[in-house]
Amino acid sequence: AQLLLLHGPNLNLLGTREPTLYGATTLEQINHRLVTQAQQAGHTLTTLQSNYEGVLIDRIQATAQDGTDFLIINPAAFTHTSVALRDAILAVKLPFIEVHLSNVHARESFRHHSYFSDIAIGVICGLGAQGYDFALQYAIHHFSNR
Ligand code: DQA
Repeated sequence: AQLLLLHGPNLNLLGTREPTLYGATTLEQINHRLVTQAQQAGHTLTTLQSNYEGVLIDRIQATAQDGTDFLIINPAAFTHTSVALRDAILAVKLPFIEVHLSNVHARESFRHHSYFSDIAIGVICGLGAQGYDFALQYAIHHFSNR
């Protein structure tokens, strides 16, 4: 299957950004690990990080043409603000898992609401960078059982 991993704003700073909250693993390390794991399981995974909502929306819209089967997304701060990103995912009917490094429910109340959780297959939060591995494992399992 063709898998897509999307990262929202400020996640390019992983490793140095509030490491007590978000961990010491860099985005490059996360991406490299997931690309390798997907490959080993016979799938392809592409990744994109952007600080721009429109770039993420364009990438999601492109999945309608490029054969993407499944999305793993950490919308970062857009989780709590972006009706537009939500609508893009609904428009292309892409199944997805929402991932957050931190436990958003243990933080400020404005992080408790997500524009994605009710339309996601599942949500993983609070498990750090490992959350991405678990999401990928789900996707691999899902596509090997079809
Ligand atoms: C985050 C949680 C969001 O509230 C925050 O804006 C982020 C990262 C996480 O991975 O824990 O940028 O999505």
